[in-house]
Amino acid sequence: MDSKGLVIGNRGGLRDRVGRYLAQWSVFFRGFMAHPKMVGSIIPSSRFTVRRMLEPVNWRECRLFVEYGPGIGTFCRPVLERLSGDATLIVIDTNPLYIDYLSHAIRDKRFHAVLGSAADVERIVREHGFDQADYVLSGLPFSTLPTGVAPEIAAATHRVLRPGGAFLVYQFTAACRDYMAPHFAQIDAGFEWLNILPCKLFWGWKG
Ligand SMILES: C[S@@+](CC[C@H](N)C(=O)[O-])C[C@H]1O[C@@H](n2cnc3c(N)ncnc32)[C@H](O)[C@@H]1O
Repeated sequence: MDSKGLVIGNRGGLRDRVGRYLAQWSVFFRGFMAHPKMVGSIIPSSRFTVRRMLEPVNWRECRLFVEYGPGIGTFCRPVLERLSGDATLIVIDTNPLYIDYLSHAIRDKRFHAVLGSAADVERIVREHGFDQADYVLSGLPFSTLPTGVAPEIAAATHRVLRPGGAFLVYQFTAACRDYMAPHFAQIDAGFEWLNILPCKLFWGWKG
């Protein structure tokens, strides 16, 4: 465990790391088998995707970072490593297997794992004592979510962000951009080859 109390880590020899990866992957895969359309991938995002997505974040100004669809926490440790000591990370996932896993695996006072839908982000943020979020990150499979859920999530995300905040979205297809476009006047775009599958990256800025 490191100084911030994180249980998930990169320490240990190659055998430890491979063992840990396989254990995490098996939790992820079981979650996929239970809800394939809600998970949308059988492999967590690569470290290259993680680094690219988080690059534009101004960590010094970030008080509240929200993540939708953390799965087994691929982004959680890198976000916590960059986040200030007095800031907060709230992650929201509909899959109880993932929320249960994360609640046990990550021990950090800044970390809150919530079982629920991203569509309810405003209520969840309020319940944690905040009015607005600085950044919202999404790994949701927008194109396979139940009808009506994706536009609802995009609208709620725009409302919950502070002016100058951003919605960070990665996906295998560009479908998410269609849901972001009505709300975010500026959307920066990128592409990450080193991911299975290669994925599209979007950063929507709230003016
Ligand atoms: C492709 S996985 C992303 C996993 C992880 N973020 C990564 O990059 O490796 C998509 C995640 O979205 C979650 N999910 C699907 N619909 C959701 C919703 N409405 N609200 C919150 N999470 C949702 C799934 O349970 C799953 O954990």
